[in-house]
Amino acid sequence: MKSKILIVDDEKLMRVSLEDKLIKEGYAVTSLSNAMEGLRVLQSENFDAVITDVRLPKMDGIEFLREIKKTSPDTVVIIMTAYGSIENAVIAMKEGAYDYVTKPFSLEELMIKLQKALKHKDVVAENLLLKQQILSQYGHHNMIGKSAAMKYVFEIINAVSHRDTTVLIQGESGTGKELTAGAIHYTSNRKDGPFIKLSCAALNKEILESELFGHEKGAFTGAVKMRRGRFELADGGTIFLDDVDDIPLEMQVKLLRVLQEREFERVGGEDALSVNVRVICATKKDLKKLVQEGGFREDLYYRLHVVIIHLPPLRERREDIPLLVNYFMKKYASQQRFAVHSISQEALHVLSEYHWPGNIRELENAIEHAIAFCTTDMIMPKDLPENLREEATPSGLFSIELSTIDSLDLQETLSEAERKLLVWAYQKTSGNQVRMSEILRIPRTTLQNKLVKYNISKTNIRATEQA
Ligand SMILES: Nc1ncnc2c1ncn2[C@@H]1O[C@H](COP(=O)(O)OP(=O)(O)OP(=O)(O)O)[C@@H](O)[C@H]1O
Ligand SMILES: [Mg+2]
Repeated sequence: MKSKILIVDDEKLMRVSLEDKLIKEGYAVTSLSNAMEGLRVLQSENFDAVITDVRLPKMDGIEFLREIKKTSPDTVVIIMTAYGSIENAVIAMKEGAYDYVTKPFSLEELMIKLQKALKHKDVVAENLLLKQQILSQYGHHNMIGKSAAMKYVFEIINAVSHRDTTVLIQGESGTGKELTAGAIHYTSNRKDGPFIKLSCAALNKEILESELFGHEKGAFTGAVKMRRGRFELADGGTIFLDDVDDIPLEMQVKLLRVLQEREFERVGGEDALSVNVRVICATKKDLKKLVQEGGFREDLYYRLHVVIIHLPPLRERREDIPLLVNYFMKKYASQQRFAVHSISQEALHVLSEYHWPGNIRELENAIEHAIAFCTTDMIMPKDLPENLREEATPSGLFSIELSTIDSLDLQETLSEAERKLLVWAYQKTSGNQVRMSEILRIPRTTLQNKLVKYNISKTNIRATEQA
């Protein structure tokens, strides 16, 4: 199918010669002399690319570009600027133009830029399609995963979303607690109602009470107006209480009452307000332990614990990493000018080995970082954040040609692998034991014992290396 190009320029000679050239090159062309008409045409027809002059009567090219990006964001735009007005080109690129040419330019130069722009558009569209395919195949409302652990999470979400059950979501930082809460709300009957969030972390009793239940005018100094609380705002929808473990004990009683009776008063108020709200809570902590330690009310714990969803840390479901990497690549590649569409085996190896204390959020940031630093269309280890690369184990370390041997001494082989890893860690950290125990994820004392066992020290590291 022919790509459709819209030319907008008030200079007739330029318009005609461009049109001729594009038709000769096999494009379907519409050419106009002003931007207003351009917008009208764009409302009823889809164009793959727009080539426009900056200086136009009435609406200028930059304004035109902004409007195009609002109504047809997929259309790529190439701007023509006059010689000596580079600032226009800079503004245009910031506003989302794909590229620019400076007059006078050769038609060949413009053709090359146009081809590149159209290629970019195809890659972006393809990525979007692939992202949607990943989501429909392995996803649940923007959550990706194909590991057994994540499939189980999706099953629970499906089972509870249509009921009004209170749900407690437990997981380390960045494991997707908020995303899960959203998935429950947006697939429930309440999806058209509000989804109201509140993080209870580090809020004292007074602030938290007024945030949750609102206050009447004059309830305390500074309460100059009546204010509705989150429970009132969430009426007909869902309230998501994050870091619920951090609620002060005296506020826990009040929360318990709302959960039991669905009734509360605004601070300083007397009328009991009743709301229809579904409650979802999240915590990074082990609430049960907190109950045993006296930091959390037992009765409230049982109220919240009707259904619990444990989100597994990423390091316990590494089989999801390639899928997530792919998904985030598609997500971020379309925001960049340079279309990054693949990742090298080595880089994927680094990502698969890392221990991900920040879980999926950290992985997502790593991919965004890599795409920004990538200078080709493939992510290489050098493009990844440095702390990740430092930790990767040397690939090929355990590459024993199993097909060529009949038996091996397991203990000896494992010891040899352990020794190699210790040497590797030693060299990587110049023998810094704190760092070594970090990257090997073992306690310092264990590390020291192993260094002694394998006789690894500054003086004989060379000999060990050669052994
Ligand atoms: N299964 C998943 N698939 C795709 N993206 C995910 C998944 N889980 C989390 N994310 C993404 O990771 C980031 C962190 O997720 P989210 O904010 O839900 O985590 P969290 O557990 O609430 O973190 P925190 O404890 O720091 O509040 C978000 O950008 C989210 O979109
Ligand atoms: Mg969160």
